[in-house]
Amino acid sequence: MKALVAYYSRTSITEKLAKEIAKESCADLEKITTNVKYTGKIGYARAGKDAMTEKIIDIDKLNYNPADYDVIYLGGPVWASKAATPLISYIKQNEGKFKNVKFFATAGKSGFEQTFAQMEKYALKSPLKTLALTTKEVKNNNYSEKLAEFLE
Ligand SMILES: Cc1cc2nc3c(=O)[nH]c(=O)nc-3n(C[C@H](O)[C@H](O)[C@H](O)COP(=O)(O)O)c2cc1C
Repeated sequence: MKALVAYYSRTSITEKLAKEIAKESCADLEKITTNVKYTGKIGYARAGKDAMTEKIIDIDKLNYNPADYDVIYLGGPVWASKAATPLISYIKQNEGKFKNVKFFATAGKSGFEQTFAQMEKYALKSPLKTLALTTKEVKNNNYSEKLAEFLE
């Protein structure tokens, strides 16, 4: 099974998880980046607004083609109970290229269900599995059981 992990992370919480998923599943790792500035106070406000309006933005050139993979792990932070804008833009840009998908997300505490529902809508695929972890769980390395189940 050829696997790809494609993720966006603003403050490196989801990134920690993405790297571990890639390591455990021997997957290629695609870090989604963009020129749109989501850092700082103004960036935070922009992130919330762009997520709420389901804005599609330009993302930077990709290294991997998801069509070449049997399973694609798609992940990012929850923004205003939605998937982060760069992740949704990646999914939209690669519409029709996903064979099988698994979704993972991190959030302060809530919004996972709506986030996964939105990702499913854009990927045009139901996920084989989902993994929802709080920022605290990731920070404290308190997710090994959930991660093992997600990787099965
Ligand atoms: C614009 C914005 C909106 C957010 N909205 C939510 C939310 O609706 N629910 C929640 O529990 N956390 C929310 N968060 C917190 C992030 O989901 C959380 O900190 C996440 O783990 C960050 O992951 P990252 O470091 O990979 O970017 C929000 C963060 C940002 C920047």
